[in-house]
Amino acid sequence: MSGQTAPELPEAAVTVDVPAKINPHLGVGDARPDGYHSLSTVYQAISLYDTVTVTRRRESGIAVSIAGEGADTLPADETNLAAKAAKLMALYGNIEPDVDVHLFKRIPVAGGLAGGSADAAGALVACARLWGIEIGDAELRRLAAGLGSDVPFCLAGGIAVGSGRGEELVRVEAAGTWHWVVATTDTQISTPECFAEVDRLRGERIGRFSEDVDAIVKAFEAGASADELSRLLVNDMEAAAVSLRPQLASLMHAGLEEGALAAHVSGSGPTILFLVGDKPHAVSLARRLRMRGGARSVHLAEGPVAGPAA
Ligand code: C5P
Repeated sequence: MSGQTAPELPEAAVTVDVPAKINPHLGVGDARPDGYHSLSTVYQAISLYDTVTVTRRRESGIAVSIAGEGADTLPADETNLAAKAAKLMALYGNIEPDVDVHLFKRIPVAGGLAGGSADAAGALVACARLWGIEIGDAELRRLAAGLGSDVPFCLAGGIAVGSGRGEELVRVEAAGTWHWVVATTDTQISTPECFAEVDRLRGERIGRFSEDVDAIVKAFEAGASADELSRLLVNDMEAAAVSLRPQLASLMHAGLEEGALAAHVSGSGPTILFLVGDKPHAVSLARRLRMRGGARSVHLAEGPVAGPAA
């Protein structure tokens, strides 16, 4: 033994798991001059994860590969939000990127669960670690917000109130865990498509801005029962999502008939979330929904869970 410590080798690969987000409260205001809508939302990260692995490659540049659920429907090139995140981190660290970004998808694509934003959040964190870039929380959040409105929350995880276009966050200290059954459908809804439908319906005086999040925030802080929480779920995009994909109404109805405490459109849809009392309730509801058909896939999830930068 020489007594010398070996020099630390740079890591060759970094893997991070990034959770999906849901919005137990999603209040949508009017469109702003920049085209975004003001939001008053409460996010929760749930235990449905994409895995982002970044690996050094010999050549410079950023290559993307994707496997898992819906992989063939996503661009495996520089237009992928995870590739944009890797590029942004390289710019920030003033380095030439040399990385393979591999996404393993479990979060349904275009489902209202922020899967693309989660991948971008994961790529930011993983690339910073791979390249040894020191970056403070505030700077990381700033880069994330530049990539998309949901990306800052996807970094943080937990439960948070979101305002602005969703990127301004205040953490909520939750005193419990809540259980969900997540039912995906055969259709997809793009976020802008659903916001445009909200605007159209507002033009017909349908829907309003649910700005006040106090009751649901207090419920999370107090560790409210699922029964109490079921009466506080709000989604101002629900009417728009159901108007675009009317078949969602029958899936929501099916879950309620099979014993869910509440049926809730996830974000801009079309994924449907069913709130249940506990894990055994989740297991039995999921089994019944699978037997009935009508959902493409049915998953169990609980939240809050931590994000990759927590
Ligand atoms: O921020 P992000 O790139 O994820 O948003 C995608 C699209 O969703 C925006 O271009 C906009 O059309 C719509 N959006 C919105 N208001 C928000 C967030 C997103 O209108 N608060």
